[in-house]
Amino acid sequence: MSVPFLDLKTQHAELYPEIEKVVREAVLNAAFIGGASVNEFEKEFAAFCGTAHSVGVGSGTDALRFALTACGVKSGDEVITVPNTFIATTEAITQAGAAPVFVDIDPGTFNIDVDRIEEKITPKTKAIVPVHLYGQCADMDRILAIAKRRGLKVVEDACQAHGATYRGKMAGSMGDAAAFSFYPGKNLGACGEGGAITTSDDGVAAHSRMLRDHGQIKKYYHSIEGYNGRLDAIQAGILRVKLKRLGGWVKSRRKNAALYKDLLAGVEGISVQHEPDWAENAYHLFVIRVKGRDVLQERLSGMGVATALHYPVPLHLQDAYRHMGLRKGDFPVSEAAAEEILSLPMFPELTEEQIRYVVESIKKAL
Ligand SMILES: Cc1ncc(COP(=O)(O)O)c(C=O)c1O
Repeated sequence: MSVPFLDLKTQHAELYPEIEKVVREAVLNAAFIGGASVNEFEKEFAAFCGTAHSVGVGSGTDALRFALTACGVKSGDEVITVPNTFIATTEAITQAGAAPVFVDIDPGTFNIDVDRIEEKITPKTKAIVPVHLYGQCADMDRILAIAKRRGLKVVEDACQAHGATYRGKMAGSMGDAAAFSFYPGKNLGACGEGGAITTSDDGVAAHSRMLRDHGQIKKYYHSIEGYNGRLDAIQAGILRVKLKRLGGWVKSRRKNAALYKDLLAGVEGISVQHEPDWAENAYHLFVIRVKGRDVLQERLSGMGVATALHYPVPLHLQDAYRHMGLRKGDFPVSEAAAEEILSLPMFPELTEEQIRYVVESIKKAL
């Protein structure tokens, strides 16, 4: 048997008649930029997340960058985040003019260690970007309490967390703003690039709308300089088709994760991402932790089980951030995790047979 890491083909084959209709209508009506499908998707996605607004943009990176700028982050500011995330989180901070400041993570949840945030706050700190890693929300109540006390903005990086909840609240609804990615493999993925900002702040929404469209309030009237960062109409139409299924897909992911956890319980040397009782993980990724990870990954590959690493090198040790002068040992929890994490196959259509095969293969490989 072979188990792919992700299987979008099965999902797309099932949805193809609806997707084809979206593409056909857009092409025949020559309606590619803005218009009804973007507006309707924005309304539906805001309703899904429980926010007053959603603003469709070109990618999750655009969403983070525009949200930060719209929340007032600018040159000279510092923004707190984690080193164990995709580089887009810190790219967006830098591109908004600010400097990323890292805080280490909790070894069980892999999310920001809230107890260590305050020691990194300086007079320059403007915002915190908690990353809801692998689909599980960071401890938002405690983060929001610190932000309130210290006068900081909170922009959730929800790029992996569509459909996750925190104490019953949807990911993307708790901070001043949040960023989602619709990269194809995400819980809600386009057939190309896409992203969205969610917020209930009218000013942040209006500013984000300008930033995505060259700073325009109406055509050729530019209040500020912005970007070409719009969500295109075909992608919005396809996202509308998929959004209807997102709740069901998240349930399937959670069911798959529950079976993995059940079968892996008691397997010596393996632990899974801790899910506190206040979190409902949307399981964009199912990540185990194991010593000797590289050997296990190679053996699994030999048995037909595809796996991946999210992420093999923490950001403070990447060449791109050498100028920060950080080194090995500065964020030991993130560094240890990077050496031990392994993402197993996870997608809604994964079968029980496939999950059992993955776990049997792990046991054999160990
Ligand atoms: C945590 C995180 N932040 C930001 C992004 C950026 O999203 P995009 O690739 O749509 O720009 C991603 C996407 O992989 C991500 O996983």
